[in-house]
Amino acid sequence: MLNILVINGPNLNTLGMREPAIYGTVTLSQIVATLQRRGEELDATIESFQSNHEGALIDFIQQHAGQSDGIIINAGALTHYSIALRDTLAAVKAPVIEVHLSNIYAREAFRHQSLIAAVCQGHIVGMGWRGYLLALEGLVDHIREQLNTQIDVKEGNV
Ligand code: DQA
Repeated sequence: MLNILVINGPNLNTLGMREPAIYGTVTLSQIVATLQRRGEELDATIESFQSNHEGALIDFIQQHAGQSDGIIINAGALTHYSIALRDTLAAVKAPVIEVHLSNIYAREAFRHQSLIAAVCQGHIVGMGWRGYLLALEGLVDHIREQLNTQIDVKEGNV
């Protein structure tokens, strides 16, 4: 059973009501429920955390990343300016997938830069709520592939 953390930053608690033309009408709890259902099929538990506070997000990652197999994160606006969050993620050993509901590259210039992208395994933008689902499926595949490679190396198969 894999353990996946799903972390959401500032303002993502208001998904569904917040600028629906940009972010859609699906709420965060609906997204998490969908991930939990898919997680069951993939033999992965989903632990969700949302905060509007940079320090609370950093505390959560520091406390939980060591026991997790992978992280999906939508850091909201912190993506574009939080060196502290980037430093926290850089120290995480498990693979991290960055998700944004909107296509940040098609929006205001200040959203074009992600400070966390370079310390993530990959990132998915512009796919709305489905981006989280794609991230979960890709992340679980990636983790299992890495685990199988480690077993092959140990057993001398490669
Ligand atoms: C967002 C994009 C960010 O620029 C914005 O500040 C958000 C949401 C997204 O999911 O598209 O809060 O991360």
